[in-house]
Amino acid sequence: MTSVQDAKAPAGEVVLEAIGLTKHFPVRRRLRQLFTREQNAVHAVDDVNLTLRRGQVVALVGESGSGKSTVARLLAQLYPRTGGDIRLHGETTKVKGGSAFRSYAARVQMIFQDPFASLNPVHTIRYHLSRSLKIHHNAGKTDEDLENALRDLLTRVSLTPPERYLDKFPHELSGGQRQRVAIARALGANPEALLADEPVSMLDVSIRLGVLNLLRDLKERLNLAILYITHDIASARYFADETLVMYAGRMVEGGDSETVTQTPAHPYTRLLIDSAPDPDRLAGDVNALEEDRGNGEPPSLIRPPSGCRFHPRCPMAMNRCTTDLPVRLEIGDKPGHWAACWLYDEATVAASTPGEAVAK
Ligand SMILES: Nc1ncnc2c1ncn2[C@@H]1O[C@H](COP(=O)(O)OP(=O)(O)OP(=O)(O)O)[C@@H](O)[C@H]1O
Ligand SMILES: [Mg+2]
Repeated sequence: MTSVQDAKAPAGEVVLEAIGLTKHFPVRRRLRQLFTREQNAVHAVDDVNLTLRRGQVVALVGESGSGKSTVARLLAQLYPRTGGDIRLHGETTKVKGGSAFRSYAARVQMIFQDPFASLNPVHTIRYHLSRSLKIHHNAGKTDEDLENALRDLLTRVSLTPPERYLDKFPHELSGGQRQRVAIARALGANPEALLADEPVSMLDVSIRLGVLNLLRDLKERLNLAILYITHDIASARYFADETLVMYAGRMVEGGDSETVTQTPAHPYTRLLIDSAPDPDRLAGDVNALEEDRGNGEPPSLIRPPSGCRFHPRCPMAMNRCTTDLPVRLEIGDKPGHWAACWLYDEATVAASTPGEAVAK
């Protein structure tokens, strides 16, 4: 494995960028629409910007259906994009299958939520890892090289001694061990970036921390750039350097994780934090917790709300929020903390009537 190359890359070097990334999934036309020009689409991701740097974790947080997995799949080049750009080391990339995809995947690897589904039940751990090493030309020349590389991979994910695991089948391992194998397989490509889509959400609560600590350790030792997708904003604070919050296909807030989670600016981020399970509140009034979960449902992404997509659920909505798409505004408390929210535009707030809440 070429750890020399890993050590050389400066920490903080930009690996992967999304610029104005957009994905609309066309919806099948109904009979009536066949005679019109109407073509509906799910606006899954709109105008998303993010930057992954060596040795850093970026968390992408949002509720179900907000477009997090779509961002990861676009970055992994598993889908073509509708618009915007993906840059690897500053170069525009467009990959369609074959060897171009393989060389892209050698640098950008994905880890999925369900390790059981991502490993083939009829093959051993040795098979899965050997395949990854061979495809990405990291298996060396001799059988001994391959054996050493396999041991090295399992040791890196703390499955030791390696010989205890190599010839097992996925079902013979626990959920946490399977996810470690999936991580080892991704490392077999010797990637620069890992896209981890809810990597611990299917694991038992007691072993989640161990897997997150492993990822953090790998980030430091291998100088990896990591995108960490999660529902759980509390784990973003613990694990990620930067946190981005997504709502209904758009980024609504970003900044360093401590600031975004401790002094959230966007009303949606506040709602996410307030609705995270809190043992103190559970001990009190359970009904209050239910009310805290926020009023209303996530919006339709076929016809997303005009203006700010959060306005129908927002307790702070002003008239402007119903018509104008909010721009990114600096909050001013910490460098790099921003929210796409008109509350941070002095002119908008000054022009609105106090207590003005739009009719819902
Ligand atoms: N292949 C597809 N075809 C059509 N619509 C899709 C497709 N994939 C995703 N979508 C839609 O795009 C939106 C975003 O989905 P996505 O899976 O990215 O959300 P998510 O934030 O990862 O949600 P979850 O937390 O449940 O995993 C959803 O409305 C989903 O129904
Ligand atoms: Mg998802």
